[in-house]
Amino acid sequence: MKLNSKNLLGIRDLTKDEINFILNTAETMKYVINSNNKKTPHLAGKSIVTLFYENSTRTRLSFELAAKYMGASAAHVSASSSSVAKGETLIDTGKTIEAMGTDVIVIRHPISGAPHLLAQNVKASVINAGDGMNEHPTQALLDMFTIREKKGNIEGLKVAIVGDIYHSRVARSDIWALQKLGADITVAGPQTLMPAEIEKTGVKVFSSVHEAILDADVVIGLRIQLERQKKGLFPTTREYAKFFGIDDNRLKIAKNDVLVLHPGPVNRGIELSSSVIDGEHSSINEQVTNGLAVRMALLYLLTRKDINTSPES
Ligand code: CP
Repeated sequence: MKLNSKNLLGIRDLTKDEINFILNTAETMKYVINSNNKKTPHLAGKSIVTLFYENSTRTRLSFELAAKYMGASAAHVSASSSSVAKGETLIDTGKTIEAMGTDVIVIRHPISGAPHLLAQNVKASVINAGDGMNEHPTQALLDMFTIREKKGNIEGLKVAIVGDIYHSRVARSDIWALQKLGADITVAGPQTLMPAEIEKTGVKVFSSVHEAILDADVVIGLRIQLERQKKGLFPTTREYAKFFGIDDNRLKIAKNDVLVLHPGPVNRGIELSSSVIDGEHSSINEQVTNGLAVRMALLYLLTRKDINTSPES
């Protein structure tokens, strides 16, 4: 099997088989991460550049380490300290990066669709590391990897996504992935942070966390995106925590073996209590390891010779 495109722009574009293929490849990569020798030749001779117009710890570092563990050259371009700050356009920046022999550009951008624009204008593979309020596909893949690893299967699981659904590209990508893999999805959050007509996507929408996480197999907490908020969408973070935060008491209504995930970074005590973040149900740190495995798998699969490299792919 191979992926249908040279780019990963969104989960929306992937088939169920492609998602499972990436997750299966990531399983192999996780063995490498957990071994004493993290050097593999999968990307020998390749060049990977991360181009980030927004801050990141997990996504950026895991792509960089993924490239290095597999023998590629890796470099980073930050918008704030590059010629982007002098007004260079995204396309000109992309062509400049490509002119140095880059095989994969990993881009994070505050505007939805920026990775798609870049992909139309460069021959290099483009990976979306988060675009505006659209998608964060590699986060969804690592979430699916973690759920599958812990639960064995995703089909038929009840997965609750709680928090700032409106601003969350993670929620959008997770919903696409969970639907393709056959989960039942519930969402809950303040009405002001719920996208219009979200129920049309097939998810069940609740205004109370209690109803959303009742008997849930998996609870995914979302970060309150204070940097994207217009003032007044909820009164205070204290009130948000009271009505939508998940603590040990609230978690008791989920299944006994509930799995708790969060994409990070977490606002401790707001979306999740510290006891939940650090507790027995949480796999938040393991998500980070799995993110590395998934990104290793993607870099490998997208740079294989048999990938479809036509610009429209
Ligand atoms: N989950 C996530 O995208 O984290 P970073 O912003 O640290 O990359």
